[in-house]
Amino acid sequence: MNVETGATFADIAASEEQFQLATYKKMAIAAERGEGVWIYTSEGEKYLDLYGGHAVAGTGHCHPHVVARIREQSERLLFYSNLVYSEVRAQAAEKLVSLAPEHLTKVFFCNSGTEANENAMRMARMSTGRENIITFDGGFHGRTADAISATFLGKYREIGKPNVPGHIEARFGDIGSVRQLANESVAAIMLEPIQSMAGVRMAAPQFYRDLRELCDERRIVLIYDEVQTGVGRTGEWFFAGSKTGHRVVPDVLTLAKALGSGIPVGACLVSDKIASHIKENDLGTTFGGGMIAMAAVAATLEAIEQDQMLANVRDVETYLRSRLKEVEQVVSVRGLGFLLGIEFAGKAATVHKSLLDRKIITGTSSNPRVLRLLPPLCLKRAEVDQFVDALTQVTKTEP
Ligand SMILES: Cc1ncc(COP(=O)(O)O)c(C=O)c1O
Repeated sequence: MNVETGATFADIAASEEQFQLATYKKMAIAAERGEGVWIYTSEGEKYLDLYGGHAVAGTGHCHPHVVARIREQSERLLFYSNLVYSEVRAQAAEKLVSLAPEHLTKVFFCNSGTEANENAMRMARMSTGRENIITFDGGFHGRTADAISATFLGKYREIGKPNVPGHIEARFGDIGSVRQLANESVAAIMLEPIQSMAGVRMAAPQFYRDLRELCDERRIVLIYDEVQTGVGRTGEWFFAGSKTGHRVVPDVLTLAKALGSGIPVGACLVSDKIASHIKENDLGTTFGGGMIAMAAVAATLEAIEQDQMLANVRDVETYLRSRLKEVEQVVSVRGLGFLLGIEFAGKAATVHKSLLDRKIITGTSSNPRVLRLLPPLCLKRAEVDQFVDALTQVTKTEP
């Protein structure tokens, strides 16, 4: 084996390239250790992580409370399925439901974002007896068959061919386009309330209210895909039900990414009405609700609460936005909380690369001019200063 413990970056990269499918364009670093907003590499270098490992490290890397609960649980019981009751599963479900908008009273646990969305769509079909799902241009919902068929963004539906039937595209932010399509065949309208991958797109407040009204009027299930926006990212527990989310509450809300701080877990939060249509054996997945994942969920929610991370997100977002005004090349800043899109006149990929050279990890998006930030919720003002200073330098010479 080429890769012994303590291997160099060159050996690690060569091995991964030899033995793994090349499905991702990787940054030229090997992550070895993480702490809060920092990633340490195989070469002993320290990177400021403003991407949070794909929006997953909400509590920061290796939050001590999360690590301790996972460790304790791993010594007690790694896994037993939903065929038995479990204290840690009870704790995780109760905590999650207690933080959710009042109207969402039950949870179904699964393993990823795409699986949460598949189950959300299935529940909508089961509870309405209808088949069609309306989603939006620019929305991303995952890569399994039904979810990729609901993804009207770039090449994804093409990759997923043949697509699952029953998917209809409306225009994000355009209620007229939805009204035209929302007939008696429609089971659900599903949306990312803030479209992340599309370059952090938000709709006008009235659009969310109108969607809720339309769904009530035509007995359609409203699904919010909060795989990215959920679990504190917007400075609220969820976009759904919050002031910044215009108090609109969907019938189903899906979560994954930051929910387990890095342990794979997804969830669907549902209303009583939806729950009343779901019977034994209608949904299921072996690993859903497993003990390690449940310890991670409970600990993640506790850590966000204990460290008052929601207030931190709101405070640091305000600071970051004010400092970004100093950077001449920034055209606009979109999004909410720690899901921010920084728009440039030129290419964001060039900025991304130059920042990486200065040991700052950021993200790009499907909009070539938008750089995405999805940092841990514990990011502080001093780290914002480091980022903005670097951004000022790199954009002086580039876009
Ligand atoms: C909004 C949204 N929904 C769903 C997914 C799919 O999640 P997963 O990769 O966990 O299947 C993603 C992943 O990026 C996402 O951003």
